[in-house]
Amino acid sequence: MSELRHLINITDLSVEEIDHLIAVADDIIAHPEAYWDACAHKKLATLFFEPSTRTRLSFTAAMMELGGNVLGFDQAASSSTSKGESVSDTIVMACCYADIVAMRHPKEGAPFVGARHSTVPIINAGDGGHFHPTQTLTDLLTIHRKKGDFKGLTIGLCGDLKFGRTVHSLIEAMIRYEDIHFVMISPEELDLPSYIKEQLNKAGVDWREVSSLEEALPELDVLYMTRVQKERFFNEEDYIRLKDSFILNRAMLSTAKDDMIVMHPLPRVNEIAIDVDDDPRATYFYQALMGKYIRMALILFLLGIK
Ligand code: CP
Repeated sequence: MSELRHLINITDLSVEEIDHLIAVADDIIAHPEAYWDACAHKKLATLFFEPSTRTRLSFTAAMMELGGNVLGFDQAASSSTSKGESVSDTIVMACCYADIVAMRHPKEGAPFVGARHSTVPIINAGDGGHFHPTQTLTDLLTIHRKKGDFKGLTIGLCGDLKFGRTVHSLIEAMIRYEDIHFVMISPEELDLPSYIKEQLNKAGVDWREVSSLEEALPELDVLYMTRVQKERFFNEEDYIRLKDSFILNRAMLSTAKDDMIVMHPLPRVNEIAIDVDDDPRATYFYQALMGKYIRMALILFLLGIK
């Protein structure tokens, strides 16, 4: 029997394990038929207490393409959470019915609590404004396939860097690689939490903050746009004032490198105009596709299936 592993934070995986997952995902893309029955008779529970399109559907598609089955719920209201059942009891129940669990929850730390009560691997599919490690794996696979390597890249992170869990997890992953440069582009009120800044400084990473996307664009190899998330604000006035702080349009890309890639974890609202979609640098829909392959690799890894 393999050791019980969970993925709560991206740092639960070593750099070598992340590189292994990227290599397996590359192999799945090249030889999908070799994986068709890899998870036959295995079940994935998707416990989504918060809305999702990509994460839930890509986990579902991933398990189906591995020959396994999927059960679960897509909102707290349709589970016994609505009757007052705790996260820990919900997880104990899921362990009775599934071999692995992907869980999204609006409260930071809920998947960690779940993991403490679980006898099967728990995957954090996003917890509040905290972490989103499988989005990070998706992002790393995308960057690796498009750029070949992480070394020497200058990455612009733009938008809501305060509540943006995908940004926090991506930074935590990338600072463990060599020669990475970050440009943080956000309104002052939505800049990075201080604990992430401390991690950047401790790792000796080259990074700076700017308030203008136009200023940063020419030097970037990767532009990672994010949505200003209405659901994280306590005050609607603040959301309305900040929501359109940065809007990338096709004309702005004239100063960007020809091989820069534009990423976004999605969903987008206004922050990338639809006229960018036809630009060859637009990579966000490809990125969403990569989410399925890296989640296939992750399910195999956590279930200990070679
Ligand atoms: N990127 C992402 O987490 O998208 P969903 O919220 O649609 O799952």
